[in-house]
Amino acid sequence: MAKFLVKNSGPLKGEVYISGSKNAVLPIMAATLLCEEKCEITDAPRLRDVDVMCNMLRRIGAEVIEDYDGNRLYIGTKVISDKEAPYALVSKMRASVLVMGPILARTGRVRMPLPGGCAIGARPIDLHLKGFAALGARIEEGKGYVEAVADKLQGCNLYLDFPSVGATENIIMAAVLAEGTSVIENVAQEPEIVDLANFLNKMGAKIKGAGTDTIKIEGVKKLNAVCHSVIPDRIETGTFMVAAAITRGNILLRNALPDHVKPIIAKLKECGVEIYDTFDGLIVNAENAKLVATDIKTLPYPGFPTDMQSIFMAFLTTIDGESNVHETVFENRFMHVAELERMGADIVTEDRRAIIKGGKPLKGTSVFATDLRAGAAMVLAGFVAEGETEVSEIYHIERGYERFIDKLKALGGSIERVEEKVKEV
Ligand code: UD1
Repeated sequence: MAKFLVKNSGPLKGEVYISGSKNAVLPIMAATLLCEEKCEITDAPRLRDVDVMCNMLRRIGAEVIEDYDGNRLYIGTKVISDKEAPYALVSKMRASVLVMGPILARTGRVRMPLPGGCAIGARPIDLHLKGFAALGARIEEGKGYVEAVADKLQGCNLYLDFPSVGATENIIMAAVLAEGTSVIENVAQEPEIVDLANFLNKMGAKIKGAGTDTIKIEGVKKLNAVCHSVIPDRIETGTFMVAAAITRGNILLRNALPDHVKPIIAKLKECGVEIYDTFDGLIVNAENAKLVATDIKTLPYPGFPTDMQSIFMAFLTTIDGESNVHETVFENRFMHVAELERMGADIVTEDRRAIIKGGKPLKGTSVFATDLRAGAAMVLAGFVAEGETEVSEIYHIERGYERFIDKLKALGGSIERVEEKVKEV
């Protein structure tokens, strides 16, 4: 098992290039299952989750070529040979559920072992299934699996109880080849939804309204292969913005899209960090900043992203005064609190709220990456803690950050990846 050794590094400074979005590329990869010919995806990040999705698609019948020298993927699926996603892969990644919509649309049947991924809350898939059912599929739930079957999918009107990102994506992918028109309300509005809709529309789909709370889809008979470039990762962007803020550094983020990180910009500015949108990229400068505590509340887009909550909380522990964090998207997304407390942070939690009494010095110790983003939070806390911080379970971090330690090292971060020695008993 590998771990990161992180040392107090002083202010991180320099430039970083933001990679393609993990949460955009995964549904786009799944959507390639909707046509027979080979699609080309550019700006694809090299990540463990992308590898898992490549293997998943191969098992389903796709030919997948990974060319990471050019950050390109070529994916084509002449025939869907397996309508059941393999459990060994599904258990590694929750986003595996995204193959359901396309397999159902193309073959009329899909079987899914119940998904895994980050351990944050129960994370059910009832809304995905509700969408498939509205499109005319019969849903059968067995022990440890769920199946959707339909002779043909039919356009529908549907109101989602919650704007789930994954459910919105899955329902769009199922509806694009359905007969007739679908109108889906209260959908997720994340930039990754817009990127998926842009990809599908290029393929010949007829989707309107992506990025708003209502999406209208006119079903088409067939989709064609296209080339598509993935949007920059807004959570990686936010992570490096906070890396500058927490270390009181100054970082230029190339390839960042400020429009996608508005709530993060707003909150960092509120704390006293200077942010400039320049021709070269986004500059985040916290050198000599007099920082003040603030409150955050996570919400579906365009609200403050839940994926930035743990990372921002690590930053808030370094600011004098009281900050409040309210997590409304996921239950049980405070597992990083215990790890930050082990480093010396003063945090009180009650249900989905945390009160941070900031300004207590952090000390290096052994901590766990309890999920992907919490892992990044531990690394950033390690850069400002006294001494050395050992971050274990880093496979979570490697699921979602491309060349994370190379990028941090280039900014002056002291971080090494070492293989943990297993003691003989
Ligand atoms: C996606 C992102 C993840 C991010 C999350 C919220 C990907 C690959 N992952 O995850 O990084 O943290 O959006 O921004 O894009 N829910 C239900 N029933 C469902 C589906 C969801 O109750 O059928 C609930 C979940 O338990 C959770 C909330 O809705 O409380 C949000 O989940 P959702 O938006 O679906 O997140 P994901 O698509 O899994």
